Amino acid sequence: MTIELKPIPDEDLEAFHRMMADPSLSINTGSVPTGVDMEWSRVRLETRRLEERAGKRVDRGIYEGDTLVGTAGWFYNEDDNMEIGYAIHKDHRGKGFATGAAGLVLELLRADGFKDPVYAQYFKDNEASGRVLEKLGFERVGSVESISAARGGSSPAWVMRIDQL
Ligand SMILES: CC(C)(COP(=O)(O)OP(=O)(O)OC[C@H]1O[C@@H](n2cnc3c(N)ncnc32)[C@H](O)[C@@H]1OP(=O)(O)O)[C@@H](O)C(=O)NCCC(=O)NCCS
Repeated sequence: MTIELKPIPDEDLEAFHRMMADPSLSINTGSVPTGVDMEWSRVRLETRRLEERAGKRVDRGIYEGDTLVGTAGWFYNEDDNMEIGYAIHKDHRGKGFATGAAGLVLELLRADGFKDPVYAQYFKDNEASGRVLEKLGFERVGSVESISAARGGSSPAWVMRIDQL
């Protein structure tokens, strides 16, 4: 079955929360602390909707049929560069969903007429994410110390970029 990107409705808050509360997900993100509660997930969904209305980001659920298998989207980072992000629920990894969903995010940007470079970052010990980006044509352009709420500080990360959408 193929995947599609859709806004996450309130009915899927519990499924969204199960993803966010999983330590194997939060450890590789910048902004998700370990062991978040349902209220944190509710606020997160709501905040992301408000940021989308303000033109700062688009965040989508990744759906396989009716099943929420992950999230993916774009945002303007602290340098005002376009950056993408994605995460897959642990039960649905290894099936190409992150690569497919990140590719769909690039397609969304392309369809909007976006032509500038697109960035992504991943912690150096998160090789699966590096592989996703390589498969999409991103190239390594730098190295930074990036904050991770779940790691409780900063951790070395690769900066990746794709120039031709
Ligand atoms: C990283 C993550 C998004 C990958 O999702 P996924 O749906 O399993 O990714 P895909 O199936 O599209 O591709 C994964 C690739 O990494 C490879 N891979 C998996 N584990 C790996 C590892 N430990 N080392 C190297 N490569 C690995 C897979 O073999 C696959 O490559 P291939 O197609 O060449 O075989 C998922 O593990 C995840 O959500 N992790 C937690 C959150 C996260 O890391 N988000 C990204 C933040 S930068």
